[in-house]
Amino acid sequence: MPNTSTAFGIDLGTGNIKIYNNTDGTVFREKNMIAVINKNTLFAYGDEAFDMYEKAPANIRTSFPLANGVIADIKDMQTVLKCFITDMTEKSKFNGADFYISVPKDITEVEKRAFYDLVKDANIKARNVLMVDKAIADGLGLDIDVKTSQGVMIVNVGFDTTEISILSLGGIVLSKLIKVGGRKFDEAIRNAVRREYNLMIGSKTAEKVKIALSNPEAAEEDSIVYGRDIVTGLPVERKIPTDLIESALNEHINSIIDNIKVILERTPPELAADIYRHGIFVTGGSAKLKNLDVMINKGTNLKVNLTEDPISTVANGLARVIKDDNFKTVAYSIQGLSGK
Ligand SMILES: Nc1ncnc2c1ncn2[C@@H]1O[C@H](COP(=O)(O)OP(=O)(O)OP(=O)(O)O)[C@@H](O)[C@H]1O
Ligand SMILES: [Mg+2]
Repeated sequence: MPNTSTAFGIDLGTGNIKIYNNTDGTVFREKNMIAVINKNTLFAYGDEAFDMYEKAPANIRTSFPLANGVIADIKDMQTVLKCFITDMTEKSKFNGADFYISVPKDITEVEKRAFYDLVKDANIKARNVLMVDKAIADGLGLDIDVKTSQGVMIVNVGFDTTEISILSLGGIVLSKLIKVGGRKFDEAIRNAVRREYNLMIGSKTAEKVKIALSNPEAAEEDSIVYGRDIVTGLPVERKIPTDLIESALNEHINSIIDNIKVILERTPPELAADIYRHGIFVTGGSAKLKNLDVMINKGTNLKVNLTEDPISTVANGLARVIKDDNFKTVAYSIQGLSGK
């Protein structure tokens, strides 16, 4: 009998929420953001809330409910999750679902249980709530048979975090979560532009400039940005050379490389040999950052493997867990904070 009960696989990122829905086989993605008006009334969520970010008047608060890979505001996160699940199920007769949630390895037990409570208490008819270590889901999303592979290094570079993991035989041997990712890259670009050009730019502008670097057609051109001149206070347009932007990112990229090396130093030698043969797998949206692969390769002397759609690998891995009973064993249940 095929398994036809409704199930969702959720990768709660600090920047983007990705939801695999087994009823139509799609992965949905929107910004993980909420906009609240007059202190307590929901105004917008997801991409619509992000459109208002850094543009809204004082009575509208926009915020990311997650920070550094963990839940910063459980109420906001529940609201956003409930809105998305309701949108996805309102046209069908929805009578409950199983939820598979990916979680970082290197967080505290309390932080992990908070993910369980989040889903269980979000009023979304959650039957079973199961956890999958994010790096394991990532490996499955890369089509690696994580249950039999020995010595696989995955570096997921997201928005607030980078998770560096060594997998072997279905488990995680070593793992480190560091607070470096796309948000830090954007901040570094803003700081450099401010320092060199006396120009204040918003984080969305900085992100656009960063993403444009990886577009081969625009690669050699200067970036045109709009912002506010600090001296005159007036809105202006400026050309920013690509070199300045690229060098602004070096410090954070080097910090990722240093942490990769620390993990490699702690890796048992037999696994190190496998990692040498496979190379490093880089995933997460920021895997697309221009030259990140080249710099990791130079810094470690290891081959770097990239993938077509790195932002969705974790959700695609959760999809495999949901679809293929052979991978069900990587999902586990935990108790919530109340012991439920
Ligand atoms: N072409 C690109 N070049 C550089 N960065 C990119 C590109 N495309 C997307 N990104 C970055 O990817 C990041 C989002 O990635 P992702 O969705 O994997 O993060 P997340 O899962 O929300 O965060 P985290 O895993 O840290 O909680 C953003 O910072 C975005 O700017
Ligand atoms: Mg992520």
